[in-house]
Amino acid sequence: MLLHSITISTPLPPSIRFKSPNSPKKTLKISAQILTNTTKFSISDQDLESRGFNLHKSFSELNLDHLNSVFVAVGFPKRDPEKIRIALEHTDSLLWIEHLKTKKPVAFARATGDGVFNAIIWDVVVDPSYQGIGLGKAVMERLVEELLQKGISNIALYSEPRVIGFYRPLGFAADPDGIRGMVYSRKQKRK
Ligand SMILES: CC(C)(COP(=O)(O)OP(=O)(O)OC[C@H]1O[C@@H](n2cnc3c(N)ncnc32)[C@H](O)[C@@H]1OP(=O)(O)O)[C@@H](O)C(=O)NCCC(=O)NCCS
Repeated sequence: MLLHSITISTPLPPSIRFKSPNSPKKTLKISAQILTNTTKFSISDQDLESRGFNLHKSFSELNLDHLNSVFVAVGFPKRDPEKIRIALEHTDSLLWIEHLKTKKPVAFARATGDGVFNAIIWDVVVDPSYQGIGLGKAVMERLVEELLQKGISNIALYSEPRVIGFYRPLGFAADPDGIRGMVYSRKQKRK
């Protein structure tokens, strides 16, 4: 997910919105089925470590140039590291996985929100060389669990159509109860 200019009125129902960052018109509906607090993670912290990965919950040790490289590697536009830093400072919850051997980030996800009712998940990425081994699921499970632990049950995200199948088993659904998300569009406003 990439950050887009959006306006969402509150309170939102427990729902989520999916959108293609590269194709703003290809917005899909939202939906969120919330995981329970008893969720077991598919890979434990210990298993991650035994596989050579370390989990972080703050960006104090995160090299933002390296993170940017992961964004670029998955097709996100390269962003100003200073702006990334500001975005992370305004991020309520984040998780990233470091490959201990290279000391580089290989998986990342973050959530912004009001800290009480609503959160939106952004920038879910796994370095292409490390995809398909459960790291995306590992960061998402933990991010959602952290939000739920804070009492935040309205968790939303934008998804490219090709990734919807990744989010569904994590508890997210499209267009719950027919609810449709809307995203501000300068193009639309000019009409
Ligand atoms: C989407 C992404 C985060 C998934 O991370 P990952 O580490 O490769 O995924 P995992 O290995 O944790 O996969 C977890 C499960 O989701 C499935 N899955 C992964 N990507 C999927 C996809 N695109 N569609 C459907 N299922 C998918 C896996 O098969 C696996 O299933 P299992 O639990 O039954 O074995 C990663 O592919 C990525 O960074 N993609 C590019 C950036 C991107 O599109 N981000 C999302 C923007 S909306």
